[in-house]
Amino acid sequence: MFRNFKTVERIIFGRGCFNQLEDILAEQRTAARPSVVFLVDDAFMRLPLKDRLPLHDQDLLIWVNVDDEPKTKYVDLLTDQVRQAMAAKKMDLPAGVIGIGGGSSMDLSKAVALMLTNQGSAADYQGWDLIKHPAVYHAAAPTLSGTGAEVSRTTVLTGPEKKLGINSDYTVFDQVVLDPELIADAPREQRFYTGMDCYIHCIESLTGTYLNAFSQAYGEKSLALCRKVFLEAGPESDDQLMMASFFGGMSIAYSQVGICHALSYGLSFVLGIHHGIGNSIAFDYLEEFYPDGVAEFRRMLAKQHITLPRAVVADATEEQIEKMVDVALILVPLWENALGKQWAQIMTRDSIRDLYRKM
Ligand SMILES: [Fe+2]
Repeated sequence: MFRNFKTVERIIFGRGCFNQLEDILAEQRTAARPSVVFLVDDAFMRLPLKDRLPLHDQDLLIWVNVDDEPKTKYVDLLTDQVRQAMAAKKMDLPAGVIGIGGGSSMDLSKAVALMLTNQGSAADYQGWDLIKHPAVYHAAAPTLSGTGAEVSRTTVLTGPEKKLGINSDYTVFDQVVLDPELIADAPREQRFYTGMDCYIHCIESLTGTYLNAFSQAYGEKSLALCRKVFLEAGPESDDQLMMASFFGGMSIAYSQVGICHALSYGLSFVLGIHHGIGNSIAFDYLEEFYPDGVAEFRRMLAKQHITLPRAVVADATEEQIEKMVDVALILVPLWENALGKQWAQIMTRDSIRDLYRKM
């Protein structure tokens, strides 16, 4: 069976294209549903982007906090907040939900758009194709590039039991606004670690057993762009990184990520380490599996003057390490992509635990 996957319906790209958001949203506003919900990373609360949001009187602006990675509880809270605001305005649903920020803000906006039309808690839908009803219209304008959240069919959430995405065709954005000017002022380390998420998507996709010509085409181009961005750092870097992220996301849409992502999910679930930095921490210990990728990653670290955090697992209890192993092992498709159908014979609980202990 071949995957028949959905992609983002509309894409606008170019420096300054964020200014067209007003016109883009105008097409979605109706008399019955005039309100747009903006979920914006609260890092922008005091930055000029705040004054460029095309806000109407009926709209709802929610500053989202992404100090922690998105949790199902937080999604439920935000969804309730939107529902109450809509009820107060005597509307059933908003015209759309717009996420502005990095991967976490984009994922929150996808999740809220889904939960507005699906009953229960976001935690009920962590998994593959569990969503029953289409989401409300949702769009994103990334201010950080690398996660591929702008193109993926998942929204990665930490629930009470596990860190796992809500994977569905309905999760995919209806519109993305790719304006390289929006990523120009990202903090240096955050930009690097988020960019490495993309680099690692490419390495894991291109070396995986799921690879086909489709994911290879996107993965190779994305990888070439990552090299330009992090080893050459020319004036086009913002444009290139934005496209690398998009293409990296397209590459894993038809393949899968691998060992580094599985381990990073465990670090994130138990220790609260953010995805990009967790990937970078884990990747440095995966020379055995990705020798060329890890060597090049280290050149990128040196070129960008980044020092990786060390000994992050040193103070973890036995129980915490076992939980990390559990979380990593849930992600069967990732292991299978990396190591083939017999992956469980190669990667045992003991070998995963040993890897974590090094970090
Ligand atoms: Fe990732």
